[in-house]
Amino acid sequence: MSGSRLPGFYKLSVAERRSLVAERAGVDLQTLASALDAGGIDCATADKLVENVLGTYSLPFGLALNVQVNGKDRLVPMVVEEPSVIAAASNAARMVRQAGGFTAEMSEALMISQIELRGLADQELALRRLETESEHLLSVARGAVPNLIDRGGGPRSVELRRLEGGRIVVHVLVDCKDAMGANLVNSIAEAVGPVAAGITGAELGLRILSNLSDRRCARVTCRVHPDELLFSRSRSDVAVPSDRASAVDSGEWLSGDNIADGIVAASQFAEADPYRAATHNKGIMNGIDAVVIATGNDFRAVEAGAHAYAALSGRYRPLSVWRRDGADLVGELALPLALGIVGGTLRVHPTARLALNLVGADSADDLALIAASVGLASNLAALRALATEGIQRGHMSLHARSVAVAAGAQGPEVEAVAGRLSEDGSVTLEAAIRALSELRRP
Ligand code: MEV
Repeated sequence: MSGSRLPGFYKLSVAERRSLVAERAGVDLQTLASALDAGGIDCATADKLVENVLGTYSLPFGLALNVQVNGKDRLVPMVVEEPSVIAAASNAARMVRQAGGFTAEMSEALMISQIELRGLADQELALRRLETESEHLLSVARGAVPNLIDRGGGPRSVELRRLEGGRIVVHVLVDCKDAMGANLVNSIAEAVGPVAAGITGAELGLRILSNLSDRRCARVTCRVHPDELLFSRSRSDVAVPSDRASAVDSGEWLSGDNIADGIVAASQFAEADPYRAATHNKGIMNGIDAVVIATGNDFRAVEAGAHAYAALSGRYRPLSVWRRDGADLVGELALPLALGIVGGTLRVHPTARLALNLVGADSADDLALIAASVGLASNLAALRALATEGIQRGHMSLHARSVAVAAGAQGPEVEAVAGRLSEDGSVTLEAAIRALSELRRP
């Protein structure tokens, strides 16, 4: 069995979902269960990872379905606390796969090691000296990361940037292969720094990676046939009818064409207004961060890179843009995505290792392209909701379940209480406690 289509998955019990996924992903069920049940790491391991530990903290681990990237189906683990993010990404990915799925590529896969040189009276002379010595700088950089060289990666080139105030910044561009590469790149910066300062007579400044890893960008595009966007005005849980034209004529369904135009207008709003662009990008990062966290990667680095990239033109812009292409809706997303599938958290975190096994990423680039695709799916889902009913209806019906749990509902009571709250349109803890006590009344 293979593929990321699992219709009715949400209706199964957790145990049933686990066996289905273990079978489909070829992962041992026991390994899957133990990686998830313990919440990943125990307190003793946590105490070795960070400081002043009191315990650990768990988040929901779910799967995005229907995702197809470059013709390959993927089950995509997502760790996120916000209701509706996983369902929305899966739903949007289903629409996209009808038109061929996501097409994705990495621009290059180079990290940037930065060395700051200060106090240069003659910047031109310093630049010329650094240029002449660039091969030497590269060989010093290579000496700092012998294991990376053995794996076929390593420093590739040196670039020089002149800043105001007598500063030069040396960038060493590094292929980190399947590592995110922060430690490798920092080691290179610290090895090359004193040499570069010696060559120029500069005062040595900072030596660290840049999280604006714009030489490691993922670019994703997708196409959606407007019929896939069709939207029921009254209910979110009904299947799209086969006779779509009559459904729209009946007035009950909003036409895909209108919705596609609404999504383009939403994109243009974000292109025109940084206040909207921030929220637009948050919708993209809902999907990306969830995959980044599930796979044990550094979400702060990804967030810093994404927003710096969004502002690179001097104005904060949306990371994705939506347009019509003929009848179809087409989306494009680009952002820096420095992820790893080796080292770091993966050494100690069984849930992160499980996530990588489930998604089947065979390289860091592969994982980045999958995460970016889920980001574009999340963005599509958010804009479709905003262009139609707004996000609150769908959001609230899912939020109702967590409110029901907070009120003490257990097992089947959760759905019963959540259904009652959604029907009444009042999703509050007090309403949930009342509904639960009515349900339990003999
Ligand atoms: C909520 O988590 C994300 C949205 O605000 C994104 C958007 O507005 O595009 C719905």
